Amino acid sequence: MAVTYFKRFRMELDLSSWKPASDLPEGYFWREWSENLLDLHAEIKFLSFSHEVDSQVFPILGDRWGCQRLMREIRLKPGFLPQATWLIGCDQGYCATIQGVVDRTGFGSIQNVAVLPGYRRKGLGKALVSKALEGFSNYGLRKAMLEVTAENPNAVRMYRDLGFTKAKTTYKAVTSDWV
Ligand SMILES: CC(C)(COP(=O)(O)OP(=O)(O)OC[C@H]1O[C@@H](n2cnc3c(N)ncnc32)[C@H](O)[C@@H]1OP(=O)(O)O)[C@@H](O)C(=O)NCCC(=O)NCCS
Repeated sequence: MAVTYFKRFRMELDLSSWKPASDLPEGYFWREWSENLLDLHAEIKFLSFSHEVDSQVFPILGDRWGCQRLMREIRLKPGFLPQATWLIGCDQGYCATIQGVVDRTGFGSIQNVAVLPGYRRKGLGKALVSKALEGFSNYGLRKAMLEVTAENPNAVRMYRDLGFTKAKTTYKAVTSDWV
């Protein structure tokens, strides 16, 4: 067995000094959470993560059925927050997803932010995170957090742009068979 350690950052944001900015580019629209959309969230998650570093860190993200299981687990968390769980759609279908939960310490916790590869660099990722933050804020939460892999610099930059700052560094051990 080989063990790889992935550096991860916990990033936090104070919602009391945060200003909402969840506008979408023209041609895109929000779709609020509904139970019958669970598999759609899972599919976009799978198609967005399957070739990214996070599918090495969390192999479940690189597996279609794994993403369905993960979505069901997120949905069943006691703090699952529909107001922080959104899809983005356009003429061609749905292209981006985010889910939010309230964790045991009262933080709004962003679960997975995912934009399909063909729809990136249009501002959808930032809009998704802002929309989830708005949901946390409207629910009365004062702080938000997320975890991100250090080898995902585009995501780290996006969170920094939105005002998140690093609060802690952790290492996630991932075991794999020798080839
Ligand atoms: C990370 C991700 C959600 C970004 O989505 P996106 O729609 O492309 O993001 P945006 O267009 O809103 O860009 C937001 C900012 O992120 C940074 N960024 C995103 N992609 C970038 C890239 N390819 N190169 C450089 N910076 C990038 C930039 O700072 C950008 O702001 P700018 O366009 O004003 O420069 C998307 O790449 C994705 O789904 N990746 C796979 C899943 C993933 O890693 N999710 C994050 C897990 S923690």
